[in-house]
Amino acid sequence: MTVELTETSDAPESSSQASLIAIGSGTEWWRSAVIYQIYPRSFADSDGDGIGDLPGITSRLDSLADLGVDAIWLSPFFTSPQHDAGYDVADYVDVDPLFGTLSDFDTMLARAHELGLRVIVDLVPNHTSWDHEWFKAALAAPEGSPERDRYMFRDGLGENGEIAPNNWQSVFGGPMWERTTNPDGTPGQWYLHIFDVSQPDLNWENPWVREQMLGVLRFWLDRGVDGFRVDVAHGLIKEAGLPDYTPPADAGSMGGGLPPLEPGIDADEPETPPYWAQDGVHEIYRSWHEVLDEYEGDRVLCAEAWVEPLTKLARWVRPDEMQQAFNFTYLSASWNAPELRTVIDTSIHAFGTVGAPSTWVLSNHDVVRHASRLALGADNLQGDGIGPASPGLPDPVLGLRRARAATALMLALPGSSYVYQGEELGLPEAIYLPDDARQDPTWFRTKGQRYGRDGCRVPIPWEAGKPSYGFGPTTASWLPQPGDWDEFSRDSQNGVAGSTLELYKLALSLRSEHELGTGAIDWLSGYGDDVIAFSNGAVTVISNIGSVPVELPVATVLLASESVDEGVLPVDTTVWLAN
Ligand code: GLC
Repeated sequence: MTVELTETSDAPESSSQASLIAIGSGTEWWRSAVIYQIYPRSFADSDGDGIGDLPGITSRLDSLADLGVDAIWLSPFFTSPQHDAGYDVADYVDVDPLFGTLSDFDTMLARAHELGLRVIVDLVPNHTSWDHEWFKAALAAPEGSPERDRYMFRDGLGENGEIAPNNWQSVFGGPMWERTTNPDGTPGQWYLHIFDVSQPDLNWENPWVREQMLGVLRFWLDRGVDGFRVDVAHGLIKEAGLPDYTPPADAGSMGGGLPPLEPGIDADEPETPPYWAQDGVHEIYRSWHEVLDEYEGDRVLCAEAWVEPLTKLARWVRPDEMQQAFNFTYLSASWNAPELRTVIDTSIHAFGTVGAPSTWVLSNHDVVRHASRLALGADNLQGDGIGPASPGLPDPVLGLRRARAATALMLALPGSSYVYQGEELGLPEAIYLPDDARQDPTWFRTKGQRYGRDGCRVPIPWEAGKPSYGFGPTTASWLPQPGDWDEFSRDSQNGVAGSTLELYKLALSLRSEHELGTGAIDWLSGYGDDVIAFSNGAVTVISNIGSVPVELPVATVLLASESVDEGVLPVDTTVWLAN
């Protein structure tokens, strides 16, 4: 990779333009990057209020450079009443005081760039907070006004408009519509909210909305960000007429169901829900692509689009749209070799047909952490989470073992991988959160029927034996941390052979040394159906996902997710061998 000195001359005074940054550029870094997701409220807390913040992130960036990732993606830190942990944005171009100031952001960005880490921020275009000035103006304005047309207001059905405009159900449970009250106290129109009632959907048919969001992109690009993770990138456009729709029972909360995959074949396209994956979203992303092109260097858009099958998702990453899309089909795959082989093959093929790299991801802030998910004994739909009363609770030892094997497999695949904060520590889902500590709107909107996503969002442990495990200077933690997390803390794993942290570090450094991210895989046969085996350049990767040990070829072991006796690969273990 060539290293260029880039002057971030379009950034504002106090920010990263102050220094010249040394970052590989012009080589489409995102094609093979490992991108680390920071969930700001749970990463590092500098002021002891129990909520992580930007200065906290800055203070801990060294450890991410040391880990060996290429970039960071920050979940929202923008002005917000925090009804959905910041995914309810009240001002797209300012920092919420909970997290700091714009100047704290600039400092964080400059430090990240100094360390050679790219920075991606979260853009939440589908909806605003109900505290956003635009929504307040819409409520205050009369029906049919330009202000109302920025959102999805509709008259209700029934004699007095008392019935919601259609039958759509919110991702977080309950109806997708809320009735308003007119300034004179009479019941008014309804507005659409795919998510919480505090997250009204914008009307993306309205050119004014499109223009505003281009300004938001420019604001952050001018400050020097390397790109955007685009929230709900499959939701912006709704089918004309907003027809009634009932999703299949096996659809996760964010999208269509998972059609069965057959080896080498894409599933037929399932029915497209009227609020997901409408063709109209693509012209929006083309216009964003053009804005990114106005800027120097490789800037990137990554779609959070829960779209299946992968051949359809590939439309989000055509050459003139986004650069990446999260591969949730991979994340949703079971711990099963034939299924994983099929998903890997299909992913590389589907994205390849449009010239895009595949991405890989196992955990994020919306799903059960993979150190727990991979050992679940019962079906669990995305967004439901797990808690004390869930069926099939995971065996933590088995879960961690599988998670380590799964990560070692993922990091050997060509393309770009996403790592979610805490997974490099082997963190499990926090299952036993007290009911009164839960904060996910899913928990409230379903009256406790679905636990939601708090269990993967608990502040992460840095130092054993310290208050809040060193997350902050006090014991405060916005979600309570389990009492037995000393063993997961970063300092107790750092430099310790065999720890999950050292496994990640080794995998990332070998991945870079052997250029696995830009490589290609060749499947190897002869290991049986329950084993995944391929070579990627100079490295052979073998994952035993079956129930009996497997004989290994004679070769130097570069990495093993568990200790491996000579010549034998135990179950739930991945090795990398030198070819
Ligand atoms: C995305 C985010 C999720 C959020 C939702 C609504 O799925 O990842 O956390 O609740 O969008 O913005």
